[in-house]
Parts: sequence; C-alpha cells; structure tokens
Amino acid sequence: MSLLFTPAKIGSLEIPNRIIRSATAELMADDLDGKPGEQLKSLWVNLVKGGTGLIISGHLYIHPSGKCHPEMTGIYSDDLIQPLKECVDAVHNAGGKIAAQINHGGMQCDKKAVDGTIAPSTIDDDFLEQPAREITIDEIEMLIDAYAQAARRVKEAGFDAVQIHAAHGYLINQFISPYTNQRTDKWGGDLQGRTRFLREVTRSVREQVGPDYPVFMKFGMEDGKDGGLTAETGAKMISMMAEMGLDGIEISGGVEANSVQKGIRNASKEAYFRPLVQLVRRKTGLPLIIVGGMRSKAVMEEVLTSGDADFIAMCRPLIKEPNLPNLMKAGTQETSACISSSNCWSEILGEGISCKCPPL
Ligand SMILES: Cc1cc2nc3c(=O)[nH]c(=O)nc-3n(C[C@H](O)[C@H](O)[C@H](O)COP(=O)(O)O)c2cc1C
Repeated sequence: MSLLFTPAKIGSLEIPNRIIRSATAELMADDLDGKPGEQLKSLWVNLVKGGTGLIISGHLYIHPSGKCHPEMTGIYSDDLIQPLKECVDAVHNAGGKIAAQINHGGMQCDKKAVDGTIAPSTIDDDFLEQPAREITIDEIEMLIDAYAQAARRVKEAGFDAVQIHAAHGYLINQFISPYTNQRTDKWGGDLQGRTRFLREVTRSVREQVGPDYPVFMKFGMEDGKDGGLTAETGAKMISMMAEMGLDGIEISGGVEANSVQKGIRNASKEAYFRPLVQLVRRKTGLPLIIVGGMRSKAVMEEVLTSGDADFIAMCRPLIKEPNLPNLMKAGTQETSACISSSNCWSEILGEGISCKCPPL
C-alpha cells in the first residue's frame, strides 16, 4: 500500500491522504472588494474531485493595506464570511477538506493593489514595486488583531483549518528577517524580537479559534539574500513552534528565496526544499509538509517513507492537472505533466490562474 494514500493528521484535522494543494492565489475574486464567487467554487470542487486530500486556499488578505495583487480574495471583513462559506460548503458537499491561508503583504503589495506599503523598517529594493515606510507600533497592534479576526472569520466560514503565511517575503516573513527588520525596539533585534510579531499573531489567532481548531504555518526558513535569514536561524525558530500552539509547518523559502523554481524536468531537480525539511525534522515533533518541485510519485513516496516529511504539497502541477492525485492512485500516471515554467498567472482581469504552457 502506498503511503501517499494513507490518512494522517494536522492537529485535530484528519486528512484522507498525504497530498495537499499548496496555497495558490487563484486571482478569482472581485477586484474591488475581494469577494469570491462561482469561478473559485468550481476550481476548489475540481480539486476535491481530482483526489487532493487537503486544499489550502490562495492567500486571503486580512486587511486592505495588505492586499498583494489584483483579484486577491479577502478575509478582512465579516461581509466576506458568507461568500467564502458558499465555496467552502461546496468543497464539503463534494467530500473534500479545505484550509484558508491568511496573509498581509507588507512591503510586497503591487502598486495596483495598494498605494503606499508598510514594512518593519523603511525599505527600498530592486525587487519591490514601491518603497515601503516603517510600520508604527499602533499599526502592529492593529494588524495582530486583524490576523485574529481573519482567523475567526475562517472558522465561521466553515474552513477546516487556518494556515498563517510566514513565507515568501510577506509581512510576517519581513519581521523575521534581519534584512527587512532593522528595528531597535521590542519588535526587532535578536531572535526573540524578530519572532515577536509571528508569536503574537499565532497567540491571538489561537485565542480566537480555541485550542482544538487546527492552526498551521507556511514558514520561509531562509531568505536566500545577503544579510537575510539563514536556514540555521530558521531552524531555531521552528523548534519554538510547537510551544507557540501551532499544529504543523509547511517549509518554504523567504524574502527573495527562489520559492517557485522553474524547470523541474527530472527527479534530481524535484523536492528542492528537502534539505531544509531534513534540517528541522529532528527539531520538532510537529507534522511537516514539504513543498517545492514535488512532481513524481516515486519521489513523493521516498520522501514520506524516509520520514523526512508527513505531507506532500503541490501548487503548479494541480493547476495543470487537478486530477493528478487520482491518476497517481490508480497507477495510470507516475509524474506530473507540469514543466514548471510558471506560466500560470494572468494579467487579464476575470481570467484567473490556468496553465498556459505548451504541451510537452
Ligand atoms: C500561480 C501561483 C500562485 C501562488 N500563490 C501562493 C499563495 O497564495 N500562497 C503561498 O503561500 N504560495 C503561493 N504560491 C507558491 C506555491 O504555493 C508553492 O510554494 C510553489 O509554487 C512551489 O510549489 P510547486 O513547485 O508545486 O509549484 C504560488 C505559486 C504560483 C505559481
């Protein structure tokens, strides 16, 4: 029996197999208010029908100042609970499970989405669309509450879990990273200071959703940038996470790390964050999710059997082939047909994500 198709848990949430759809911004919400509709509902239901064990929604913005790009789905207001609930109900009616990823973009919000961004410290850099100003202490406190209120809405909308986004250079990641956080007050400085925002967000989320609701994190373990977070320090942060009240960790990269790598065409390029996962396996007893270039059933099985990770997460392969898990289970397909060129985004309003790569 393949380990890939056995159940396992993240906190109190039982997932029927080990295949997770990693958070994928769907670009399917009303650009004005972030409300999702039928397009998102059918994308999620298709993933359930294709055999994904747990869907993680695309990142949902917790506050208008943290909207990362046009057509991002929102979770910043109680008005969004009902439209989200309709999508979640459709997933449940189809027999699926779904978590919501909550996020604030901080310095990394497109100009089209937010005019004037915030970051732990003032920053301007080539990889940013616009310079960011230093966030005030009042704003920090307001946003910690905004994450908690977002998590409450996630639970009220019926999602099975909440994932806090602390990777890919967004606000929480910016606080953790010594490259983007040069504060000298209690929100910066040493490991305790730089993890304070992450710890406070986690504490306030947990307080809102209660002790039994599954809360997990996508964590950018290293920045891939001079003066940024190193894997060794990232691993130290991970060893603190069970105590923070988290139920699981998805390991990814941080500020400017190449978290969406291209050209994964053979097994040797797959599982590109495996070294990071291996580094933390013995530092935490929490379930670990590996993401990044997972493409073939053989590599997935090997990663699970070795004990390096407990779940396999995929993004681009499930845009191309939402039914990949079922095909792998049936033994009719061994590898994703995704060529990892990242042509999934769309600049055209209303189009949403889709695979635009030529067939192999
Ligand atoms: C179109 C697209 C949208 C993405 N949206 C998100 C997101 O909302 N939240 C997130 O944490 N990662 C997001 N990612 C990153 C993926 O979740 C994943 O970490 C990365 O693509 C590597 O996995 P893959 O090789 O299976 O694609 C996105 C990636 C792509 C290509």
